Amino acid sequence: RFAHLNILRNSSFATLTDKDITQFESLLGPNGILTGDAVEPHNSDWTKKYHGHSKLVLKPKTTEEVSAILRICDDKRLAIVPQGGNTGLVGGSQPVFDEIVLNFSRMNQIIDFDESYGIITCEAGCILQDLHTYLNAKGYLMPLDLGAKGSCQIGGNLATNAGGIHFIKYNSLHANCVGLEAVVPGGRVLDNITTLRKDNTGYDLKHLFIGAEGTLGAITKCAILCPPLPKFRHLCLVSCRSFEQVLKILRSAKHELSDILQAVEFMDGNAMETTLSQLNFKNPFESRLYPFYALVEVASNREGTETPDRLYELLGSADDLIIEGVVAQDETQLSHIWQIREEIASAYIKRGYTLKYDLSLAPEHFYKIVDDTRDVISRSPTFTANEKHSIAVTGYGHIGDGNVHLNVCIPGYDDHDLQDRLSGLVDGYVFEYVRKARGSVSAEHGVGLQKAQYLNYSKSENMIHYMKEIKRVFDPHGIMNPYKVLPDAK
Ligand code: FAD
Ligand code: MLT
Ligand code: ZN
Repeated sequence: RFAHLNILRNSSFATLTDKDITQFESLLGPNGILTGDAVEPHNSDWTKKYHGHSKLVLKPKTTEEVSAILRICDDKRLAIVPQGGNTGLVGGSQPVFDEIVLNFSRMNQIIDFDESYGIITCEAGCILQDLHTYLNAKGYLMPLDLGAKGSCQIGGNLATNAGGIHFIKYNSLHANCVGLEAVVPGGRVLDNITTLRKDNTGYDLKHLFIGAEGTLGAITKCAILCPPLPKFRHLCLVSCRSFEQVLKILRSAKHELSDILQAVEFMDGNAMETTLSQLNFKNPFESRLYPFYALVEVASNREGTETPDRLYELLGSADDLIIEGVVAQDETQLSHIWQIREEIASAYIKRGYTLKYDLSLAPEHFYKIVDDTRDVISRSPTFTANEKHSIAVTGYGHIGDGNVHLNVCIPGYDDHDLQDRLSGLVDGYVFEYVRKARGSVSAEHGVGLQKAQYLNYSKSENMIHYMKEIKRVFDPHGIMNPYKVLPDAK
């Protein structure tokens, strides 16, 4: 009874045999495979919505081993799903049926750091937090930062083209990935590992693998351009009465602070209240709750009061827009405010079954879709008064980048009937809204299994045609992360 119920297993795929398992074990050694109960955590996703039935996890240590795996899988028509930290939010990193899981946790070596250009070269299984820690010690940081950094891997970040909280400052991984190594079905290695900033020798194939969600091949190594670590960071949290006031603060922050602006994030009152109560966090405004909140972070290498003064000036000039504001006075307060924002996702998953929508929308639609979704649910005859009361609708996200996270949450995970009625109503409503508003049905999380059938809401028929052609070039038998991203790819 899961989101993928209407999908049939592709009958051209082989079924894994004991002989296959023995072959993989002799290739990778006993530590290189998982079978039996050890596979189970790899069959389920972080949102507790998607569950596959794989019987085998492969844990290669080298690109050569990944190449041998993808040669065998292609020859035998064994379908395979790459899995990094398994923190993806769109059902992309688990098997749908019995696909083999390709796990990168043993490919976690930092290969080199080029101090002159600030470029790190590493294997795909490096945990994002570990890369930050390594780079911070050298006076640099990763251009990407997000709430799942303790578990997600750089390979998974690249495969999803993850955005995160510092996108407004450092841009996307398309901008910061200077080199990439990938292995495609059949086992060919596309070695484009380089630390050259500039290389205009024809088609830049690495960009096809960034954001492909493992449907074209496995990312095995990368080289990422890293900015210097700013020495001083300052963060404020402000509360507002209306969403329009938040937008005005965003505009001022972009104009007044552009050279030092590091992040502008947003959450509504429901997100704040749920995160504080589910995770037992301290309210920065004591017990007071407000309809809307914005976080503004600035950073620079300037010691003294100039940088924080500019933040205070912004708050002073926006006095009529802000109900109450707080500027973090030390690193502990700063981390606490960031933790509230970054753990909203965990708070809702703790509360219960959560429909997650990750949308790019113009400012006039950014919060309207949240209000409208709440209205649609409250007017629908499908739900009882009690059910309506229990459904939480919230909006938060990367307002500086026009990326709203709309979540609709039911307490607990047991009421399958309510889950089905809710997604039946809300999926159609939200995706249709986004199509009409010419937004994107996936701003940063990817398409995965969740949105494959809605790809045409944000991509034209001709674009999907060429996406399928590209898929066929790299993966003619469709064994790489099947059923994901492209509708009926095979
Ligand atoms: P997985 O979840 O394991 O995989 C994701 C996709 O990438 C799958 O399709 C998988 O097949 C593919 N893949 C993984 N590794 C490889 C590889 N080596 N080669 C080829 N394909 C591969 N996303 C954002 O963009 N911004 C956020 O702010 C953000 N915050 C988050 C906060 C939380 C608490 C959580 C749980 C998730 C968040 N995410 C966010 C979503 C998620 O996309 C990112 O966490 C991350 O990029 C996924 O990395 P992963 O290693 O866990 O990949
Ligand atoms: C976030 O910005 O918090 C993440 O993308 C996770 C989410 O959307 O819940
Ligand atoms: Zn996000």
